[in-house]
Amino acid sequence: MGPLIEFKHVTKRFPGIIANNDISLEVKKGEILAILGENGAGKSTLMSMLFGMYQPDGGEIHIHGKKEIISSPMVANELSIGMVHQHFMLVEDQSITENIILGIEPQKRKFGIFPYVDLTSAHKKVKELSKLYKLEVNPTDIIKDIPVSTQQRVEILKMLYRNAEILIFDEPTAVLTPQEIESLLHIIEKLRDDGKTIILITHKLDEVMKIADRCAIICKGKLVGLLTTKETTIKEISALMVGREVSIGITQTDHSIEDVVLEVEHLSVISHEHITLVDDVSFTVRKGEVLSIAGVSGNGQVEIADAIAGLIPTKGGSIRLLGKELIGKDIRSRTEAGMSYIPEDRHSVGIILDFNLRENLLLKQYYNTPFCDNKGILQFDEMNSTSEKLIKDFDIRCSEGNKTLTRSMSGGNQQKAIIAREIYLNSSLLIFVQPTRGLDIGAIDSIHHRIDALRAEGKAILLISLELDEIMELSDTIMVMYNGKVQTIQKASNVTKLQVGEYMMGAHVEKK
Ligand SMILES: Nc1ncnc2c1ncn2[C@@H]1O[C@H](COP(=O)(O)OP(=O)(O)OP(=O)(O)O)[C@@H](O)[C@H]1O
Ligand SMILES: [Mg+2]
Repeated sequence: MGPLIEFKHVTKRFPGIIANNDISLEVKKGEILAILGENGAGKSTLMSMLFGMYQPDGGEIHIHGKKEIISSPMVANELSIGMVHQHFMLVEDQSITENIILGIEPQKRKFGIFPYVDLTSAHKKVKELSKLYKLEVNPTDIIKDIPVSTQQRVEILKMLYRNAEILIFDEPTAVLTPQEIESLLHIIEKLRDDGKTIILITHKLDEVMKIADRCAIICKGKLVGLLTTKETTIKEISALMVGREVSIGITQTDHSIEDVVLEVEHLSVISHEHITLVDDVSFTVRKGEVLSIAGVSGNGQVEIADAIAGLIPTKGGSIRLLGKELIGKDIRSRTEAGMSYIPEDRHSVGIILDFNLRENLLLKQYYNTPFCDNKGILQFDEMNSTSEKLIKDFDIRCSEGNKTLTRSMSGGNQQKAIIAREIYLNSSLLIFVQPTRGLDIGAIDSIHHRIDALRAEGKAILLISLELDEIMELSDTIMVMYNGKVQTIQKASNVTKLQVGEYMMGAHVEKK
């Protein structure tokens, strides 16, 4: 039997860049094929063509040995191809079932005449599918009320509801916690065992080693390797991806911890539903210190960051930055008081997708000299030269320099742009929430080195991460949250990764 999918000399150009350059690749039925490569290498673009979102400029795609013009996602659906996108595409105000059946709603007729959508039978089918694949959802829940991991299950159910046989996952684990990742990997394996063909885009090489049968490596738009997972190593893969050997892990630069920069006292945050998300939390971050907040997702860590940044209201307590009270202050005043903030959700609060890269890079400074003169006129020369410098320094891969529309950039490069903007603010306090989510191994390494260097320069850093390795590697102090409360605050050198994990589960560890 021939291959199920064949890319034959596929090329895709965007203004200023060849995103896919003469790629030929075969995918076998029933395998898990991982697609690997640096941020901006062209992974999402290649798969978007298989899903009919873009048309190749050159080359052909064959399915079951037959040339197909996949002119839209509808055509892809008819060819039994489904995709879970890097950034989910769900209708926020609709229920899970409504999202799943969107476009192919089952209809019935009242009195044999008046058509209506048969939600009851749709709910039932969704429930059945969710049971069959252990993708637990409550069909009537509204998308905006459910966590990302459930939203992802909805995206998967959406493919299965359409009887997809070829399932494309674009960085599915980037937004998940370690426990959720485990369960998703099991689901993906089960889907393969049921005969589905899986294409998995990911930056996490340990996942690839665990479940992928083969991996294809793309570097700057070209296919540079096609390996059988069993016969290769993480080292070999990463060298092919980045074009050089990557060292993993940093040694902390010498630094001294000095005066208090951020002082949080008795901070509480209550949700709209009157649930206490952050419960009487107090801590300080000093000059030259990385304080990390560890915790299982949803234990209040992100709310602490959002409250300090001014994105959500607080109930009681105080937040002082360099001695100045921030509570009651708007976001701009907080930035000007010396705070940088890299948020968890880059699309909703990190960046404006319809602005170009220059505008996004200077979003928090455009009104200051030298970017604006005293008459309020923008100084484009300054804006251009500064943004070009940031693009170079932070290795932001974009097709048209500082004029690149941010929406067109790859996910990882959007993230690099946010980090560049916030570091360039030169604030005393930098808050990083999941800073390396969606970044390739080279970029993660470079962000870790930057955090280390910022600390050595005397910045105070608050790091919130679900990656325990990242926390262990970078921190001076580790605070663990459980159920909205501080479980412990310890010197990083006094705790092991295992102990931090135990604190995260709410268990008390015997101190020697
Ligand atoms: N619609 C578009 N318009 C213009 N350029 C685009 C568009 N989509 C992608 N590109 C460019 O094509 C290149 C490849 O992007 P792609 O999204 O495929 O990267 P990726 O490998 O998925 O990266 P990441 O790991 O960061 O998600 C990037 O340089 C990107 O800026
Ligand atoms: Mg991508």
